[in-house]
Parts: sequence; C-alpha cells; structure tokens
Amino acid sequence: MPSKKKKIAVLVSGSGTNLQAIIDAVKSGILANTEISIVISSKKDAFALKRAEMAEIENIFLTPADFSDNNEFDKKLIEIISNYSVDLIVLAGYMRILTNEFINSFPNKIINIHPALLPDFGGKGMYGHKVHKAVLKSKVKESGCTVHYVIPEVDAGPIILQKTVAVLENDTVDSLSKRILSEEHKLLIEAIKKVLMDSHHCVI
Ligand code: GRF
Repeated sequence: MPSKKKKIAVLVSGSGTNLQAIIDAVKSGILANTEISIVISSKKDAFALKRAEMAEIENIFLTPADFSDNNEFDKKLIEIISNYSVDLIVLAGYMRILTNEFINSFPNKIINIHPALLPDFGGKGMYGHKVHKAVLKSKVKESGCTVHYVIPEVDAGPIILQKTVAVLENDTVDSLSKRILSEEHKLLIEAIKKVLMDSHHCVI
C-alpha cells in the first residue's frame, strides 16, 4: 500500500534558490513521495513565484499593504495554508516575522533556513548580507547554515541540521554568501527528508 504523499507549503520573499532546490529534489526523486502543494510569497515580484510557475506549482502572493496589520496578514496565511493540509511549512527566504498565532496553528510543522551557525549571528534584523557582514567583522574562522524549527522567538527554535563553512582570508560578503547559499540548498533538502521521515509513522 503506497504511503500517502507528503505535502509541503513553501513561503518565499525573494529569488527562491532554496525553493528551486526543493523543486529539483522533488523532481529528481531525492524527496520521494513528496509534493510542493503551494508556494506563497510576501512580495509580488519575487522571482521565486516565477520558479513555481515554471514548475507548474500553485503559487500566490499576498501584499502586506492590503492588510491592516501583521495579525490580519497571518490570519489570511493560516486560512490559505489550512486548505492544503500540509505536513510541513518551509520558510525559504521568507522575510516576514511570523505571529505567534500562525506558529501555534502549525505546531512543530514550520522550519526555517538561516545562513549562519545559530545561535550565533541570528535573531531579529539578522538576515541576508547583514549576517555575513557581521561574520566577517567578527573575524570568526567558520560560518555556515542552519535549519531549525520555528518558534515565536526569531531564529531560536530547536536546530535540525547545521553545516559549517570556512571563512577564507580574502572573503567578501558576496563570496561568503554565495558559498554558504550553495550549502544551504543541500542542507535544506536533508533537513526536509529528516523531518518528513521522523514524522512518518512507519508501518511495521
Ligand atoms: C537564503 O540565504 C536564506 O538562508 C535566507 O534568505 C536567503 C534566501 O535566498 N533566509 P533564496 O530566496 O532562497 O534564494
């Protein structure tokens, strides 16, 4: 009896290279018996939406300005995602802070990827190039990326997987962010596999 397909919702705001990694892993069978049911962007012009379109994955954007506040925005997000009864919600370059109401609506079902070795270089305001700038300024010899469960405190949820990336003498924000981003793409797929397998009630 084939087990039920695992369903994923992916939240995006930008270029969507992490989304693309998931799309490719589903297509190649690395993420077996899995589908991306919906891609939701908080930015109308996110290239991630074009990636979903090209992969013929249902995708929509919500414009924050159309909502009175964060709570109303996330209420809509809860309503949309609930229609798909997904097994997992992946924040892949999603640039909004989720409300407690949203997080509590999907307990232990939301994961995020962060381009540093949390708990270092994480938290409110630490995203994108700001992270790598702080890493270079600190002169640490290692950085990397982290996939973690999402809890109300930003970037503070239980860590699922991490990958260390060396910081090189002549690194710039650009060179370091690029090297870490390519590791993110691999780590995210490993983490999704791990989470979906862990939640998979293997039939003995
Ligand atoms: C990645 O560096 C991710 O760690 C961070 O935002 C970036 C998203 O990139 N959360 P993309 O939109 O997936 O290309």
